[in-house]
Amino acid sequence: MNLRSTIKFVILLSFIHLNLAFSQQYVLLGWNDLGMHCSNKDFSKMGILPPYNNVYAQLIKKQTGQSPQIVTAGFVIEYSIPGNTYSVGKTNFWTYAQALFGLPDPLPNNIGLTGKGLTGNMDISTNSFKAEGIPNTPFIDSDWNVERPFQLFHLVARENGVAVSFTDNVIPVSNEVGCVQSGCHSSEQNIKNEHPEVVGFRLNTTELCARCHSSNALGTVGDSLAKSFSYRIHEKHHDIQPINGISTCYKCHPGPVTQCFRDIMRNQGGMICQNCHGTMEALANSISNGRRPWLDEPKCGDVTCHGSVYAEEPGKLYRMSKGHGGLYCSSCHGSPHAIYPTSQANDNVQSIRLQNHAGAIDNCLVCHSSPPTGPGPHGIIFIGIIKIETQVPREFGLDQNYPNPFNPSTRIRFHVPKSSFVSLTIHDLTGREVSSLVNTKLEEGTYEAEWNGENFSSGVYFVKMVSGSYMMTKKMMLTK
Ligand code: HEC
Ligand code: HEC
Ligand code: HEC
Ligand code: HEC
Ligand code: HEC
Repeated sequence: MNLRSTIKFVILLSFIHLNLAFSQQYVLLGWNDLGMHCSNKDFSKMGILPPYNNVYAQLIKKQTGQSPQIVTAGFVIEYSIPGNTYSVGKTNFWTYAQALFGLPDPLPNNIGLTGKGLTGNMDISTNSFKAEGIPNTPFIDSDWNVERPFQLFHLVARENGVAVSFTDNVIPVSNEVGCVQSGCHSSEQNIKNEHPEVVGFRLNTTELCARCHSSNALGTVGDSLAKSFSYRIHEKHHDIQPINGISTCYKCHPGPVTQCFRDIMRNQGGMICQNCHGTMEALANSISNGRRPWLDEPKCGDVTCHGSVYAEEPGKLYRMSKGHGGLYCSSCHGSPHAIYPTSQANDNVQSIRLQNHAGAIDNCLVCHSSPPTGPGPHGIIFIGIIKIETQVPREFGLDQNYPNPFNPSTRIRFHVPKSSFVSLTIHDLTGREVSSLVNTKLEEGTYEAEWNGENFSSGVYFVKMVSGSYMMTKKMMLTK
């Protein structure tokens, strides 16, 4: 390709991009309530957790000249898990569900405890959509052997039958429940044989542990002698070594293979479960001291963590909390233990599609049709760009960034002679786009954008400005 056709190609691409940006009237954000749902695969001896998954979504209407609006009425959102359309056979749950949960009738095949199947419509819940109790397994239709714990769900929003938006995100599920897999117990029957002799314990038919041991995950009240499941399980196993290691929790929580805790705090912060939850012993003791399992959990907003600017709503869990404009924290940040960006590519698909980079939804223009003039989430202002001179430049221009080399952030000044659509993107040595700083219509003026390379490795990067037929790149050096 010669230079001219390269430029044409780039222009063509940017037009396609432009059209997409304008036609996207509705922005759909979907996520899972938890970073991981565990489930047994074999229910013939015991049930700890059934196949049960919860997907949430918020639909945002983006209209020129107006604030973004979260909408529900008049819209239908369909959910599905591409390539994973049934569960019977991938687990024997449907053989034992009636006995385990004391149901009046057998559960219909592939239908979960709340009546939801693997595909269907979401329900409206105040300003969001939800589908609770989806009975998915980690196995795709074409492979019943290899667990795929981080499959994508697909959502389509429709208005009068017409698709107006879609999204994809992870519907996590793992069968890596470790009692036997970890090598600790020889069989599930053996675990049952070792259980203290208590009246009514079903030694020879399948048994739901939470029937007697209360569990807020399943909503069982249990009996007071048995105490809560979380207390019993963590107390009984509190000697597992190392006391302060993630491998201890991965003996049961999925797991050495799945690695359910995969978010930025693990990958960049090096954190382990105990940093937030305490040791097994501390977990059990906290329950004795009144902590309600599943309901009283760590908080982002603790003074020792992120503090009040980044806090949950008072008295609410992260996954139940909303922030900016009524959006769930999870809509911008993802699920607990899978806070964007994560080490699983599928977790990052939604952010990358909407704003060209992984991580929290930080581009105001994903939802706002024009640069907002006031502060956004957590008081963040529209830092993408600032107008620094009102004098109208004579032609388009992109200056050398400064400082350069830089660490971790640098400023990029550029000139716009007439009102036009401008894109300013950062690329790595291979040409891959790693950040999008500007992708919007701007009035004439000189602007300055800031690029923060904190989450990027040292090396050469290119900043590229495109506006109509104008295109310019500059080389930048990040040195850490
Ligand atoms: C029929 C009621 C019942 C069911 C079902 C039940 N438990 Fe228990 N479990 C109890 C009671 C009661 C105790 C306390 C016994 C005692 O303290 O003597 C207990 C104690 C325990 C303990 C502590 C034992 C120890 O040695 O400290 C563990 C661990 C435990 N149960 C695990 C389980 C698991 C796993 C399951 C599911 C396979 C299960 N339980 C199902 C009633 C039950
Ligand atoms: C021996 C198996 C086992 C190990 C090891 C284990 N867990 Fe658990 N954990 C469970 C089970 C089973 C449940 C579900 C209890 C229920 O249904 O209420 C659970 C539930 C939880 C919960 C939710 C309930 C609550 O108390 O709030 C948290 C948090 C938790 N575990 C954290 C940890 C951490 C942190 C570690 C490592 C320090 C760990 N677990 C190690 C088996 C284990
Ligand atoms: C950075 C702090 C942090 C770390 C590290 C962490 N958790 Fe959590 N955990 C939380 C928070 C916050 C919640 C409450 C999330 C919610 O439901 O809104 C939670 C909740 C849970 C729950 C209850 C279900 C849920 O998601 O609410 C379990 C089980 C759990 N954690 C297990 C673990 C295990 C196992 C690890 C390590 C593999 C771990 N956590 C690491 C912060 C953490
Ligand atoms: C509209 C999107 C949006 C919503 C909703 C949102 N945030 Fe944020 N949040 C951001 C952005 C953008 C940042 C800063 C950039 C980044 O961390 O990637 C951020 C940063 C954070 C941080 C990291 C702060 C630090 O010290 O680095 C925490 C913690 C946080 N948010 C918690 C929450 C909680 C809790 C809620 C819900 C009450 C919430 N956020 C709602 C967009 C959002
Ligand atoms: C995920 C979507 C989303 C993102 C990203 C987002 N906002 Fe918003 N914003 C909203 C919604 C929804 C409202 C509520 C509008 C209403 O209720 O009228 C809102 C309202 C506002 C308002 C109140 C004024 C108004 O327009 O109604 C300001 C100011 C604002 N946002 C600034 C920002 C800034 C700055 C950023 C980027 C740092 C940002 N927002 C990112 C969705 C978003």
